[in-house]
Amino acid sequence: MIELKNVTRRFGETVAVDNINLTIETGEVCVLVGSSGCGKSTTLRMINRLLSHSDGDILVDGQDITTMNPQKLRLNMGYVIQGTGLFPHWTVARNIAMVPRLLKWPKERIDARVDELMTLLGLDPAIHADKFPQQLSGGQAQRVGVARALAADPNILLMDEPFGAVDAITRENLQLEMLRIQQQVRKTTVFVTHDIDEALRLATRIAVMDQGRIIQHDTPENILRRPASDFVENLVGKQDRGLKLMSLRPVRDLMTAHATPRPPEAGAEGLKEEDNVRLALSVMLWRDLPQLAVINARGEETGFITRDSIIGAGA
Ligand SMILES: Nc1ncnc2c1ncn2[C@@H]1O[C@H](COP(=O)(O)OP(=O)(O)OP(=O)(O)O)[C@@H](O)[C@H]1O
Ligand SMILES: [Mg+2]
Repeated sequence: MIELKNVTRRFGETVAVDNINLTIETGEVCVLVGSSGCGKSTTLRMINRLLSHSDGDILVDGQDITTMNPQKLRLNMGYVIQGTGLFPHWTVARNIAMVPRLLKWPKERIDARVDELMTLLGLDPAIHADKFPQQLSGGQAQRVGVARALAADPNILLMDEPFGAVDAITRENLQLEMLRIQQQVRKTTVFVTHDIDEALRLATRIAVMDQGRIIQHDTPENILRRPASDFVENLVGKQDRGLKLMSLRPVRDLMTAHATPRPPEAGAEGLKEEDNVRLALSVMLWRDLPQLAVINARGEETGFITRDSIIGAGA
């Protein structure tokens, strides 16, 4: 657990972070969102002591971080930054192995860990391990950055616009991967972005920041349904909220389940239970279908979802 209590950071006259209170529970993904200069990166960097705080207290698992050795503190916190921060003259494998090497793991353990992480992030070690960062695409480099942050299995992940520099499709893939990895290795994560859709998708809770303050700290659903101010309402896009709420709702919530799973009809296009309702509606509109089958991981049809049930459910 991470706690910020009345934390302030000044740079000369500038108050970059203004008396914020924020508690991040173990295993949750807290997304800091807000416009440029509102204090997101400063907040993140105070947590791993890359920056000191001017006032207030920051506790990690109940312990005041100023009483901890900064190097030790950072070894327990993976840190991913925009533009990856990879060492250009080190191979992918060596970059990922950075922290385990600092921790003096035996070579076999490091090699196995590098392999495991590359595979987890969808990078074939046989193809990419010996490449240098400039031989990778932007999205691949971002994956290496995430692998490096995860390498020594830290309890906490700090991610500062990690997917900022890639195209929309790669970004979406990285977000989906992040959700998948989070299900497998559940880390307490603080994630910075100025993209509200990314925040809604990844967060368990969102902290909306403006001018160094936290305006609202709440679940994605509550941020959409009950914005605390006009600022938050505009940030989430007033008129787009109906569709944004749809993308938070899994198909599972509105499907009609069969009594027992059955084999799918030949050629039927199906959705997964964890797909979101907005996607379901989009597929039905595009294919001009009144309903779609829902398919489980074994390829069986477990039920169906209808266009009417989606519209009828409202926001
Ligand atoms: N090292 C520094 N020296 C002086 N001022 C700084 C320093 N770092 C940040 N600031 C100021 O603190 C404020 C918050 O900066 P911060 O980098 O935290 O914003 P941010 O929310 O991460 O913005 P962005 O979305 O552009 O990355 C800004 O006004 C910035 O100019
Ligand atoms: Mg920043």
